[in-house]
Amino acid sequence: MANIIRIEDIAHHVGEEVTIQGWLYNRTGKGKLVFLQVRDGSGIVQAVVFRPNVSPEVFEAADHLSQESSLVVSGQVRADARAPGIPGGYELDVRDLRVIQQAADYPITPKEHGIEFLMDHRHLWIRSRKQWALLRIRATVMRAIRDWLDSHGYLEVTTPILTPAAGEGTTTLFEVDYFGEPVYLAQTGQLYNEATIYAFGKVYCFGPTFRAEKSKTRRHLTEFWMVEPEIAFCDLEQLMEIEEQFVTYIVQTVLEKRQLELAVLERDTSALERVQPPFPRISYDEALERLAAIRAATTDPELKELLALEWGNDFGSPHETELAKQFDRPVFVYGYPTKCKAFYMEPWPGRPEVCKSVDLLAPEGYGEITGGSERISDPDLLLQRIRQEGLPEEAFRWYIDLRRYGSVPHSGFGLGLERTVAWIAGIHHVRETQPFPRTLGQVYP
Ligand code: 4AD
Ligand code: MG
Repeated sequence: MANIIRIEDIAHHVGEEVTIQGWLYNRTGKGKLVFLQVRDGSGIVQAVVFRPNVSPEVFEAADHLSQESSLVVSGQVRADARAPGIPGGYELDVRDLRVIQQAADYPITPKEHGIEFLMDHRHLWIRSRKQWALLRIRATVMRAIRDWLDSHGYLEVTTPILTPAAGEGTTTLFEVDYFGEPVYLAQTGQLYNEATIYAFGKVYCFGPTFRAEKSKTRRHLTEFWMVEPEIAFCDLEQLMEIEEQFVTYIVQTVLEKRQLELAVLERDTSALERVQPPFPRISYDEALERLAAIRAATTDPELKELLALEWGNDFGSPHETELAKQFDRPVFVYGYPTKCKAFYMEPWPGRPEVCKSVDLLAPEGYGEITGGSERISDPDLLLQRIRQEGLPEEAFRWYIDLRRYGSVPHSGFGLGLERTVAWIAGIHHVRETQPFPRTLGQVYP
């Protein structure tokens, strides 16, 4: 067998005899020709089996190969602009073929399948082109997240999954029995990072977080990944500057490194090219005015109804979608009412009913991709807020303690990985951005 290569490197092997190890994605043919679309995990190439060039056994095997059969195929790489594939423009002129396993009837055929069927077959569905492209983009987003933070002085720290108290509201807790005591799956690593900044200055955690979300929407998972940077000596204004640099780097990295995958997903990349700092910043109050103006202007009674919102309440998807439509890049909304946000946010100077919070809303209806704030740095105020919210004081003793030994203004945010990937990739539902998503309705496979 000739030199084994990966399909993604095929351009470097034109004219050479190579071997590819993979699976049959699709097969077509006519007469003396069989066209095998072969995938190896790094791409798809068309392997052309021409009867006079191979043994009768090889031709017979190629002609009867079933979808997803595993195989090792050798031949000469040819450049041909018309050849389909990922990357397109190359094909393999087959000389030899070995079938490792002739696959049984593969349930996901090139015809259309319903989403429920596909979700139940997620273990196989991830082999399909679009899912493959999405999960490669996810990996690149994860890499870009770490690259940017690591090269800007942030230390990656790990925060616990089993936690004694709620970080983000008590309504979405998953309870676990911890030797007879109730503990909860982490909703956030933030509170622990408010401790680690005092050791390292700038930190982040990046891992799975859990929310028992009862909402069945295209933006909610019960297990999702979040990256949470936390920064000492940082106020709300500085936080927004960090966020826009960070998000821009992620988007531009995907544009540069995942062109083929974005093409597979038919993503309109011009929308992504516009993602450059500065991002517009509007206050919650201004956002409400804009929503009122949209309501006044619309002739759609349903939208009018959906957009109704009293001061003090958090936005839902329709509000975020309509607001984001007014801008060509992500938009910051800052200064939310204290009562609709978590207990730890610093009050707005002179306006205690407002807090120093900021959400970043993605364009094109993808909604909130980051949530962040300046944190309360005064121990007495923090204790007061914990009591007001009826949270268990004892569980937060260590957290209040942090405000007693060199407390400083500090800020941080959390970026939801799946929402970010869904937006960049331009796909409808966040569930497809995870290899094995967990939602209200599904924990299988
Ligand atoms: O706004 P959230 O709840 O903020 C926090 O958890 C803070 N502790 C972060 C911080 O300041 N360190 O969540 C942050 C982001 C959201 O903007 C959203 O992108 C994502 O996490 N997110 C979800 N993604 C998918 N499914 C869910 N159920 C999500 N809940 C939040
Ligand atoms: Mg939020």
